Amino acid sequence: MKEKIQSYLQEIQASNYSSPADLEAFRIKYVGKKGIIPALFADFKLIPAEDRKEVGVLLNDLKQAVQTKLEEAKQMLDTADQQTESLTDLSLPVRRELGSRHPLSLVRNQIIEIFSRIGFTVEEGPEIEDDWHNFTALNFPEEHPARDMQDTFFIEKSPDIALRTHTSSVQVRIMENNQPPIRSIFPGRVFRNEAISARAHCIFHQVEGLYIDENVSFADLKQSLMYFAKEMFGENTGIRLRPSYFPFTEPSAEMDISCHICGGEGCNICKYSGWVEILGCGMVDPNVLENAGIDSDKYTGYAFGMGIERITMLKYQIKDLRLFFENDIRFLKQFESAI
Ligand code: DAH
Repeated sequence: MKEKIQSYLQEIQASNYSSPADLEAFRIKYVGKKGIIPALFADFKLIPAEDRKEVGVLLNDLKQAVQTKLEEAKQMLDTADQQTESLTDLSLPVRRELGSRHPLSLVRNQIIEIFSRIGFTVEEGPEIEDDWHNFTALNFPEEHPARDMQDTFFIEKSPDIALRTHTSSVQVRIMENNQPPIRSIFPGRVFRNEAISARAHCIFHQVEGLYIDENVSFADLKQSLMYFAKEMFGENTGIRLRPSYFPFTEPSAEMDISCHICGGEGCNICKYSGWVEILGCGMVDPNVLENAGIDSDKYTGYAFGMGIERITMLKYQIKDLRLFFENDIRFLKQFESAI
């Protein structure tokens, strides 16, 4: 019996278990109801009294060895389990959580791209402006309604400091700091004290354009804007310039494009007129040139300004301006594939 126990002991020491099933088989083999150890204890009762002490110690050693082995192996298997859990499961399908550009950024980038192809550089100006750059230098009369508290978010009164109400303020800054030729666009955020609705917001985005040189004419303005409209909305797009009024341009115009949804036939986007308005423009008023330190006898220029939200709404047929500011992932995700 002694030899038998010793050989079991050796077997146990040498054994290795790599799966829970192996370990369970080991447990049953040794300590199960009909296992080796209960059988040995049964035999123990039959051995002569003088051998009992020695065999008893060995038998306890064996029982202990089985117990230790079981615990050790169980612990090893548990840790192995945890390690596998913490590893990434490489068999899972790839989760495609790509970010996407905001539609306003997409359209702003496209506007920049189109104008840079015809020689316009990109400049920026501050969002917090003084009265001079936002209004006075741009020829706004003292009592002009746009200066009213209703429209403008003032930060300080006398001297007036406000959030700019349009990117036209950047025109003045650029002219003050540069001599012609100037050919730049100024994208940026603007602010107006408006009630938020599907068609208006207190924060929106514009791109302003300015071209000053000798002999710049209204024909140059028309040609550049026609190029822009066709690049933005398609080769078949037509333009129409309607006389308008802005304090900083003379003459002034508003530009419509032929409705790219119905091709001019009439639909609810163009309100059955076949045309949709996209921007304001005109020849820079000589007063504005002089205010900014540019010789109005020598130089002429044109300017234009458009709302990025408006262009984006037309391009992607978005009906509610508020969608741009809510950052609803269901809305934003639709622009994932756009470049
Ligand atoms: N600043 C005008 C606005 O916010 C838009 C505009 C009109 C800009 C005519 C111009 C321009 O440069 O020539 O409504």
